[in-house]
Amino acid sequence: MAQSLYEKEQIAQMVHRAVQHATAGTTDSTDEIYRLPVELYSPRSWDEEMNAIFRRLPLMLGLSTEMRAAGDYKAMKVLDVPVLMVRGEDMRMRAFINACRHRGRAVTQTSEESGQVRSFVCPYHAWRFGTDGALLSVADPRKFGEVDKSQRGLVELPCEERVGFIWVCITPGLRFDLTEYLGGMLDELTCLEADKWFLHGTSRLESANWKITHDGYLESYHIPFLHRDTLSKFWNRESASSVSLYDAFGPLACGPHQRMAGNAWGNDPVLMGRMKDVPESEYTEKHFHAVRTLFPHISISADKNGGMVSQLFPVASDRCITIQNHVNPRDPATYTAEEADAMQKRIVLYAQIVRDEDYSASFSIQEGLNSGANQEMLFGRNEGGAQNFHRSVAHYVQAYRQIQPKRVIAIQGAQA
Ligand code: FES
Repeated sequence: MAQSLYEKEQIAQMVHRAVQHATAGTTDSTDEIYRLPVELYSPRSWDEEMNAIFRRLPLMLGLSTEMRAAGDYKAMKVLDVPVLMVRGEDMRMRAFINACRHRGRAVTQTSEESGQVRSFVCPYHAWRFGTDGALLSVADPRKFGEVDKSQRGLVELPCEERVGFIWVCITPGLRFDLTEYLGGMLDELTCLEADKWFLHGTSRLESANWKITHDGYLESYHIPFLHRDTLSKFWNRESASSVSLYDAFGPLACGPHQRMAGNAWGNDPVLMGRMKDVPESEYTEKHFHAVRTLFPHISISADKNGGMVSQLFPVASDRCITIQNHVNPRDPATYTAEEADAMQKRIVLYAQIVRDEDYSASFSIQEGLNSGANQEMLFGRNEGGAQNFHRSVAHYVQAYRQIQPKRVIAIQGAQA
């Protein structure tokens, strides 16, 4: 597959940094340990984070491959908002609140499903909506009474599809500028060629608080220990001295989006010796492994040959649901029985590892938090990704707080 100039430069830069670190026995480091008060994992903080972040920022709610044809749709709940994404006859992706404009029932059979339609017929009284959200018909209109159909379309949510991903803001009327929000991460995503992926399977997993959950996607410090018998073996990382490269992309100094990369040769001295002899012009994506995170809730452990896209959805201060999406540029219909079996085994394996190792640890951390043993969480100098994540959370919460007093004044003024 042809590489863009951007890809070539990024690959050369990452492998070069990894070789330097591996040779010196170092890794990317921040200036100091970051301390986070445990109060910031409380239900009160969770409420504020949902309002400041999940209800205001664009969320990556779907992959283009999930809805390739006109009429393909996906219904899901994000916090308390029923969301309906659908590709219209004009092939444009749109998102709506999945609530009928008669009395609010979801216009799909259930609030979490996918499928293909020509129009949505509300199961309650059969009002019919187009894939562009327009109210097309009211059942038994002469008996019901006059309805201005132009005023009763589904409530649209800001939605944009770019480079194989679909972003939605779950608050109507809050526009977003994806180019500005993603910054350099847009180039990173473009290189993945996600618009060519196929979805091969999904797993649904439960974990503790969303930030505890997310922390595990943002540092590789834990890999040789928590994943001693699984990922650590696959990646040949047998000590804590493996290399991690942290880069932030987006409008903030700390991102909020990030790329965490590691050397693909682990600590194997033979492979390391060979790497020293590889000229920079021959560095390829095979020499490193990168995980990209899209703030606030996506982890992409994939390259243009596919991999896994994890979507994290907070549901309570101590509970988060993850959807693992396994993607590959090959159409599963072309797989042999052996290849399909191998893919299914991989899907099951990654669900097991994350559930039994990462998310099991998340529940234990939640208990540790609740016990009051610690007043603060520590993120080491080698955990720069997690540091950036928590700085990003703090930034958006602070920005939200700054707009709150104006609202309070306006409400007080109205009451007076
Ligand atoms: S609630 Fe949908 S038609 Fe009545």
